[in-house]
Amino acid sequence: MNSEQIIGLDNAHVLHTYGRNPLALTQGSGLTAYSPEGKPYLDFTSGIGVTSLGFCNPAWVAAVSQQAAALQHTSNLYYTAPCAQLAAKLCARTGLDKVFFANSGAEANEGAIKAARKYSVDKYGPGRHKVITLVNSFHGRTVMTLTATGQDVFHNYFGPFNEGFAYAPAGDLDALTALVDHTTCAVMLELVQGEGGVMALAPDYVAAVRALCKEKDLLLIVDEVQTGVGRTGKFLCCEHYGFVPDIVTLAKGLGGGLPIGAVLMTDAVAAGMTPGTHGSTYGGNPVACAGANVVLDTLTDEFLHKTDALAQQLRAGLEKLPHVKGLSGIGLMVGIDFADGIKAADVLAACREKGLLVLTAKTRLRLLPPLVLTAQDVDACLEILGGVLAEMPAPAAE
Ligand SMILES: Cc1ncc(COP(=O)(O)O)c(C=O)c1O
Repeated sequence: MNSEQIIGLDNAHVLHTYGRNPLALTQGSGLTAYSPEGKPYLDFTSGIGVTSLGFCNPAWVAAVSQQAAALQHTSNLYYTAPCAQLAAKLCARTGLDKVFFANSGAEANEGAIKAARKYSVDKYGPGRHKVITLVNSFHGRTVMTLTATGQDVFHNYFGPFNEGFAYAPAGDLDALTALVDHTTCAVMLELVQGEGGVMALAPDYVAAVRALCKEKDLLLIVDEVQTGVGRTGKFLCCEHYGFVPDIVTLAKGLGGGLPIGAVLMTDAVAAGMTPGTHGSTYGGNPVACAGANVVLDTLTDEFLHKTDALAQQLRAGLEKLPHVKGLSGIGLMVGIDFADGIKAADVLAACREKGLLVLTAKTRLRLLPPLVLTAQDVDACLEILGGVLAEMPAPAAE
């Protein structure tokens, strides 16, 4: 099928809940994806933070194909090696004790909230169920994770929404403290708000939230669905902030391109999650886990150290481009603010025309390149983006 046929067929039959780019992609290798007509695109999106090893990484393809040919699914009524191995690697890498596997970020966050409430009910009895999240957060699209998402724009149409959530402005410790009462069981946050505009939380604020959680025995849930698995230069973004939370959620980059989510927790939290308390037909699927095992084996500390150097090269280059007012985020989770009235959506469209795929987050341009990028990929991105920005109309005279 050519681009026109694919786009026409999709538009006729797929629900229009996405603002798709007018672009079909049929194959890819490394950081390059190709349209049906063979036009190459340099990918600085990773499928929104998913294809951490790029397109069709040979080791990932081999592991996934071999597992698909050996045993594609068993259900969670039986044990499989890829699932057990992945859980062991995740625990060793993060310092957490147990893993529940789901299929997406939203599902992982649902599991995290359930685990936090169960811990609280077991220890303190019913009624201690409130989860405090941050204004401008994003935690997913299921009804509970939409409710957890601290953006009013997501709290329309689909009500009634769940009880038991409250929202504190990021960075405002007093506001968060004021929300804590005898019904509160957990605080849930992203260390870098991704969909909210690539906004990193201040380390002293996070340290104070941790101290508050410890004092009140509230569980601290860190949503690392977008920040996790090497995206910020460390395996968990928590490592930049110097702590191990009670619960961490992962998805996106963990699978390298197949659907997977994970809820990691301490033994104290895991103790309540006994048989029957939670489940998923597909969670821990051996094919998805086989791919994720390759992702984990590839993203060693040494590898991430090199990735971090490339992130610095990218950031240094971006700062010098025309109309760039400032950068946000950590590592390869980059937000770009423009001056002179330049709109991120216009930059995205112009980059796509020139063969570079980028994202937006709120008013910012957002880059989430695969973690296997090279110095040449960074240079190519800077050249295209720099060219696009140089051609943007000059600011209107006052
Ligand atoms: C921080 C965060 N949490 C949760 C989600 C939801 O993940 P999924 O789309 O896999 O359900 C996202 C997706 O963008 C996210 O960025």
